[in-house]
Amino acid sequence: GLKKKEVHVLCLGLDNSGKTTIINKLKPSNAQTQDIVPTIGFNIEKFKTASLSFTVFDMSGQGRYRNLWEHYYKEGKAIIFVIDSSDKLRMVVAKEELETLLNHPDIKHRRMPILFFANKMDVRDALSAVKVSQLMLLETIKDKPWHICASDGLKGEGLQEGVDWLQDQIQ
Ligand code: GTP
Ligand code: MG
Repeated sequence: GLKKKEVHVLCLGLDNSGKTTIINKLKPSNAQTQDIVPTIGFNIEKFKTASLSFTVFDMSGQGRYRNLWEHYYKEGKAIIFVIDSSDKLRMVVAKEELETLLNHPDIKHRRMPILFFANKMDVRDALSAVKVSQLMLLETIKDKPWHICASDGLKGEGLQEGVDWLQDQIQ
């Protein structure tokens, strides 16, 4: 068959936001794992959509590993940024990490689509995607296409909508 176009994507966000859980759910069911542990450093994962073959750098969000992120910025054509909608206390930390990311020389002047997942929407008292985008100041991102979806990484809800958007941005 036709070979799908390959795209490298960075999956970023604070520890415990659900990055690995989401990427796992995007893989074919026979390739999914049952036990997800906090990522050490990063993992490279692959999944496919109708027209693209994604290679994802699933980075650890732990503070001590966040300095690894920037070494992969040049590699990425797009970003998936995961936010824990139920973690109101650390939303400001997520916002600061996003700000640092957007100001990085390897990111700043590039047209990189950014897909945000407002994850853990199933948690009681989780913030809505609209509220998350307000607290994260997403409206201030003017030079990059971005999109936010509420998601439940455990059930896989909201993921398809997000990945469809990302695919459209990359064609
Ligand atoms: P690091 O690798 O440490 O950066 O974390 P991560 O962002 O990869 O998070 P991970 O996927 O390991 O998930 C952290 C925890 O959140 C796990 O216990 C997951 O089961 C849980 N989790 C992930 N997504 C959801 C969700 O949508 N809802 C709920 N309730 N829990 C979730
Ligand atoms: Mg992880």
